[in-house]
This record gives sequence, C-alpha cells and structure tokens, in this order.
Amino acid sequence: MDNSQIKSKERVAERGEVFTAEREVCAMCDLVKEECERIDSRFLEPACGDGNFLAEILRRKLDVVKKKYKKSTYEYEQNSVLAITSIYGIDIMMDNVTSCRERMYSIWEKEYKANCKSDANDETREAVKYILSLNIVLGNALSMMCVDENGEDTDEPIIFPEWSFVLGAQLKRRDYRFDVLLKENPDENMYCDQLSMFGDDVMGNENWMIDPITNEWIPKPVREFAPIHYRRVNEDE
Ligand SMILES: C[S@@+](CC[C@H](N)C(=O)[O-])C[C@H]1O[C@@H](n2cnc3c(N)ncnc32)[C@H](O)[C@@H]1O
Repeated sequence: MDNSQIKSKERVAERGEVFTAEREVCAMCDLVKEECERIDSRFLEPACGDGNFLAEILRRKLDVVKKKYKKSTYEYEQNSVLAITSIYGIDIMMDNVTSCRERMYSIWEKEYKANCKSDANDETREAVKYILSLNIVLGNALSMMCVDENGEDTDEPIIFPEWSFVLGAQLKRRDYRFDVLLKENPDENMYCDQLSMFGDDVMGNENWMIDPITNEWIPKPVREFAPIHYRRVNEDE
C-alpha cells in the first residue's frame, strides 16, 4: 500500500478509509468495460471516497463521447452532460464528498476544453455542478439516510435523481428514495404478507406504483419535475 492510499490511521480505524490504487481501479473497471463505455449506463459507488472509481468511469465515458461527437460542440456538450448524469456516489465523510464532486467536475471541465477548444458557458458549468451536487451524496449507505458534517444520521433519507433526456436537449428529473429502490418488489407474495402484517396495504403503499406499460410494480418517485433544457436544470426547484 502506498502513502496516498490512506489519510490517517484514525480515519482507517473509524471509517475503514483506504483508497484503491489506480492499477486496481483500472483492472476492476476492465471487468465491466462495456458498461463503462456506454455513455448513459448508471453507476453507483456506495462508499465512493474521493471518487477513484467514479473518476475512472467518467474518463472512460468521456473518451467515448470524444470519439463519437468530437465534430460537434453541441453534441459533445449534451453527451458529456449525459455522462455526468449517469454517475452516482455516497460517502459518509464530508471532505470526501466535496473532493469527489470537485474531481468529477474538473475532469469534465478539462475534457470539455480540450475537445471544444473553449470553456463551456456559465450556464452549462453551473448545471454540471448542480447535477454533481445531487448525484454525489453525503450519506450513510448502510442506514440509507443522509448524514450531517460529523457523519451522524439525519432524518432525511438518501434521495437520488434519475435524469433522462427527452425531446432532444430537455432533461427530465425524477427523485427516488434510495431505500425504496433497493427494496424487494412488493408484488412478491411474501412481501405482501409482511406489509399487511404492519397494516400497510400494498395497493396503497405510497412508495410503489404499477407501471402502466409493463403492469409491474415499480418504485414511485418522491418528486417529478417538468423537462427543462439541461443548461437550466439547476432552476428546477
Ligand atoms: C475503503 S474506502 C474506499 C474509497 C473508494 N471507494 C476507493 O476505492 O478509493 C471506504 C470509504 O467508505 C466511506 N464509508 C465508510 N462507512 C460508510 C458508510 N456507512 N456509508 C457511506 N460511506 C462510508 C469512508 O468514508 C471511505 O471513504
């Protein structure tokens, strides 16, 4: 292990904080190489630290964006934003979350400049920062709750936005509770019995809904926003 893999003995003891070396990160990303090269494939790192894995995934996705869209600044920009929207992380330590967001932003910004031969406009830069502020969460991946600056659970559940481009440059956002996304499908009989034991009728379960197309139970978003141009997505609240 080299020195850059730990910040202090206390942090290793308290939070198990040991950063993965680049060689291992690359080897592990190679195991899911095709997914890393799909611009919109979604990744979540539940103990992301300062983003060793997420940064490598973003680099790989942006390489693909470059190969496919280098001739058009407009298409490069939209697809580089799509890459950003697809990457999620959780960490319990505030400084790691801040470093991870900044690291992802600077990879995106540097690549943008190298490809488009100029900085992105202010609106796009703010939009990317905003997406990262929601996708990289200060939280406890075990309790699935947000935490405060001391790493203590708050009353707020971890929420992740699902971003999807609709109608060209319009970006749609739906927010989901992380704990609901990980729960079993309530359509399972056993799960229905368990829910009714607590007097919670599956049909009335506020966290689930029937998908009108597939007719299956799916998590219900806690919030849903009207599509908005991706450059103005930080105006959606
Ligand atoms: C072993 S380090 C790995 C960091 C990064 N994934 C890497 O490979 O370089 C574990 C990370 O998990 C975080 N962590 C520990 N307990 C956590 C929890 N309950 N929820 C979320 N993050 C946690 C620590 O702050 C630390 O950054």
